[in-house]
Amino acid sequence: MQHTSKLPNVGTTIFTVMTALANEYNALNLSQGFPNYPSAQKLNDLVNSAMNSGYNQYAPMAGNLELRLAISNKYQLLYGSTYHPEKEITITAGATQAIYTIVSAFIRPNDEVIIFKPAYDCYQPAIEINGGKTIPIQLSAPDYKVDWNEVASKISSKTKMIIINSPHNPSGTIWSKTDMLQLQKLTSNTNIIILSDEVYEHIIFDGKEHQSVCTFQDLKQRSFITASFGKTFHNTGWKVGYCCAPKKLMSEFRKVHQFNVFSVNHPAQKGIADYMSDKETYLGLNQFFQQKRDLFLSLISKSKFKYKPSQGTYFQVLDYSEITNQYDVDFAKFLTKEFKIASIPLSVFNKDDNDEKVLRFCFAKTDETLVKAGEILCKI
Ligand SMILES: Cc1ncc(COP(=O)(O)O)c(C=O)c1O
Repeated sequence: MQHTSKLPNVGTTIFTVMTALANEYNALNLSQGFPNYPSAQKLNDLVNSAMNSGYNQYAPMAGNLELRLAISNKYQLLYGSTYHPEKEITITAGATQAIYTIVSAFIRPNDEVIIFKPAYDCYQPAIEINGGKTIPIQLSAPDYKVDWNEVASKISSKTKMIIINSPHNPSGTIWSKTDMLQLQKLTSNTNIIILSDEVYEHIIFDGKEHQSVCTFQDLKQRSFITASFGKTFHNTGWKVGYCCAPKKLMSEFRKVHQFNVFSVNHPAQKGIADYMSDKETYLGLNQFFQQKRDLFLSLISKSKFKYKPSQGTYFQVLDYSEITNQYDVDFAKFLTKEFKIASIPLSVFNKDDNDEKVLRFCFAKTDETLVKAGEILCKI
């Protein structure tokens, strides 16, 4: 049998590669973005109790209504923004499925989609498998600032969508209100859809505020927000997330959603809905992760790595240019094998694999793991 791959340039993701290497060499795994401590017992108990009380059959296609109500209340509380629970919120199998489904619902062959590099790795394949064309805009270390004149020059009549992500994986930077206003200005009076990947909305540091698209009236009416309970509640393996959008956009989304997953794990949805009734479950996250970031940074302050403190997400990028000139993928593999610590090289998220000598470390780890990581990083 012969077939031509629809994604000829896609191989195994760097996350799989580095995690496999970390396991093979028994290295500390600070590569992939997941916690190495348990999800809250109370939440686990609520999911168990949902199973024991009969939430074991298909959830409604758009998601458990109690969960959609809890999400709607959260947007009202945090941003004063209204999303109708029945028409404007859909529960998804993680943010990844939401992103894929949004792109499939709107992108036709030759449509252009602007993304900012370094970019989370699921955006580009979703665009390309649907025949779209990725228009990358490269941001540079250490500040990853957007040049809005460059964005303006890349927008054309073919631009169908712009994908944004703040707080940003992998750089740990955030977009300011000025960035959002620039985006709003450039897209007003266009048909451009914004996909705003806000999976780290509750992980933002030093008293800064998350700038959600929903707080900018013109952006809101053209935007999808994607979110992930795995990131918020420390259980990435459950793969439950959601998206919000005005009802006209959401009704197109659901046409695809109902045929690519139909509905999502029901007991987890019910358990999360009950858990979210206490808003501290998500509002306490900033402080929890800021302590981890600060611990990690204090432990590596005497190392040869250079850094600017992460402003959001649970990632810290470290510049190793004072240590070696080695290509970042090779250096990350070398550190895993020889120093027993795994990270993610940033070049894999960049345009043309551009190497700026930067590695990404995940600090969603126990303090014990962070202390061990600090000891290793100071020896390099
Ligand atoms: C920026 C970003 N978007 C989306 C996702 C995917 O989230 P989920 O695990 O809910 O599919 C991740 C996961 O690492 C991410 O970092």
